[in-house]
Amino acid sequence: MNKRVAIFISGKGSNMVSLVESMVGNHVARPCLVLSDNPCAEGLEKARKLRVPVAVVDHRAFSGDKRAFESAMIAELDKASPQIICLAGFMRILSREFLLKWHDRVLNIHPSLLPKYKGLDTHARAIEAGDRVAGCTVHKVMPQVDSGEIMGTAKVQIYKGDTPEALAKRVLEKEHMLYPKVLKRYSLADYRPVFMEFDRVCR
Ligand code: GAR
Repeated sequence: MNKRVAIFISGKGSNMVSLVESMVGNHVARPCLVLSDNPCAEGLEKARKLRVPVAVVDHRAFSGDKRAFESAMIAELDKASPQIICLAGFMRILSREFLLKWHDRVLNIHPSLLPKYKGLDTHARAIEAGDRVAGCTVHKVMPQVDSGEIMGTAKVQIYKGDTPEALAKRVLEKEHMLYPKVLKRYSLADYRPVFMEFDRVCR
């Protein structure tokens, strides 16, 4: 039986597209829902074009009432019955209660080599710190932001004179490779992390 995957987005949805496009053929997972907290998210149209059911739970309609917002999200999830949730550029912090319900089955992609640079402006911070290597991480989602078991990383070199925008573009290309690889393993209940060293997958 196929594993059902819900993908949460807030914006462009390029990681969502790479995940959806990967779930074909003998992949054991299939997308069952793209859920956005933002009715203007560009990714919604992309999901529709890919023929994935979409739902919007506009966070602004709940005026800061997180519990009500998450109840509305849960109502959409209950209809779609996912076994795995992938956060893909979803910019809201999920509560402990929400995460308890999907214990260990929520993944996220973050644009840094965690535990370095949790939060925002990851690329600017890596350049500012004089790092030579940046990258992205897929991890299980825990109530503490950008924490949780690491399920995969991909590395990117930082060049002299790099800008946050140029680095973000190169890291995003790696995100599109890493997240599908991690999801494929994860949906087979193979929990070994994926490590991509610059242009190679190491194990
Ligand atoms: C990606 O770079 C993702 O890693 C980042 O937002 C971007 C979304 O792009 N996520 C976070 O910063 C979450 N902490 P996308 O909408 O094109 O996939």
